Amino acid sequence: MERITVQTVGGTYDILVKRSLFKSLPEIFKEKYKGRKLALVTDSNVFDLYGQNFENELKKAGLDVVSIVFKAGEENKNLHTLQSIYNSLADNGFTRSDYVIALGGGVTGDMAGFAAATFLRGLKFIQVPTTLLAMVDSSIGGKVAVDLPQGKNLVGAFHQPEAVFIDPELLSTLSDRYFADGMAELIKHSFIRSIELYQKLFELSQKVRKEGLSSLRESLSDSLDLIIAESCRIKRDIVNIDEKDNGIRQLLNFGHTIGHGIERVQNYTGFSHGEAVSAGMVLMTKITESMGLTQKGEAHKLAEILKSYNLPVSMPDIDVKELIDAIRLDKKNRSGKITISYIEEIGQGRLFEMELNELEERIHGILNNNSFAS
Ligand SMILES: NC(=O)c1ccc[n+]([C@@H]2O[C@H](COP(=O)([O-])OP(=O)(O)OC[C@H]3O[C@@H](n4cnc5c(N)ncnc54)[C@H](O)[C@@H]3O)[C@@H](O)[C@H]2O)c1
Repeated sequence: MERITVQTVGGTYDILVKRSLFKSLPEIFKEKYKGRKLALVTDSNVFDLYGQNFENELKKAGLDVVSIVFKAGEENKNLHTLQSIYNSLADNGFTRSDYVIALGGGVTGDMAGFAAATFLRGLKFIQVPTTLLAMVDSSIGGKVAVDLPQGKNLVGAFHQPEAVFIDPELLSTLSDRYFADGMAELIKHSFIRSIELYQKLFELSQKVRKEGLSSLRESLSDSLDLIIAESCRIKRDIVNIDEKDNGIRQLLNFGHTIGHGIERVQNYTGFSHGEAVSAGMVLMTKITESMGLTQKGEAHKLAEILKSYNLPVSMPDIDVKELIDAIRLDKKNRSGKITISYIEEIGQGRLFEMELNELEERIHGILNNNSFAS
């Protein structure tokens, strides 16, 4: 078992990574949370696959649990669904000593975490991620939020979980599309922070090209567990230094300024999060290469590794003006300037400020030049 400890202002918590951990959770929860109410927040897909059975097992273990199920999908990570979660917590008499358990992907973790952060000014919160993206990224670090029609994650908080339980076996049911989404965030971590991780992911991408993702996934178990743990450590090291996103944590936004804009312009029903980040990372790296900030050739390497997972490396057909309007509402926008996360070279993430007007011109420049990676 891998144990990764995160240190935050409010205290420390552990991320545990272990195959078959999920089966042990009723026993673990019985020891830790007996006598507390548990709200099992999960989406409709995960409830059918794992949630219903998990609820039964928790009840068998003598725990007081209520499932709160919402319709799966980013388009439901909103105030309307949040209201229904609050209603269930209130109707079931949750108090501050009770727990919210997020069982699901990043959408579930972000929304259940925000409900936990705000209901009664804060309930305790546990993450049980079920997508690769949530295992390597979103379940760690305490950023919780919902989207508004105007933009991604515009209503949110910092609310650290009390524990994160990762069982990579749960990934066996995840579609290749959402598996690839998690690879996008893993590739992001490697590009901003770790050439060693990039090398591992590059080797893997060569195998994917030969064998195809589906068949490779079956033989991946041990190396995947190590990669998940390594990615958790990269994120943990960043969050330990800058929990509240005032400095180095903004490196994690590599590809996200443009990615979030794409998701918003497509009303959260087009590119998935990982796909939008993928296209966003390539476009941003093209821009910083053209400015001489990034070593030549890195955008090509980035596009190649992303393409091996069928992730998009070109922009969808959207209006750049609309994209910039969406970026204007980004949390990283301060007085018309936006903090950009980019790479100098693989493994070396950097930050710089750019005027939004300049960003718009540079996006047009790259797209009109037809120099966007394909
Ligand atoms: N808080 C953070 O630091 C942070 C970081 C990165 C991304 N995010 C957020 O994460 C979200 C994206 O997360 P996601 O990609 O996990 O999306 P998601 O939660 O929508 O999950 C993707 C799909 O996979 C299904 N699913 C989940 N687990 C499954 C399993 N084991 N087997 C089969 N199907 C399964 C879900 O029902 C859903 O349809 C975005 O909203 C993004 O903003 C947050």
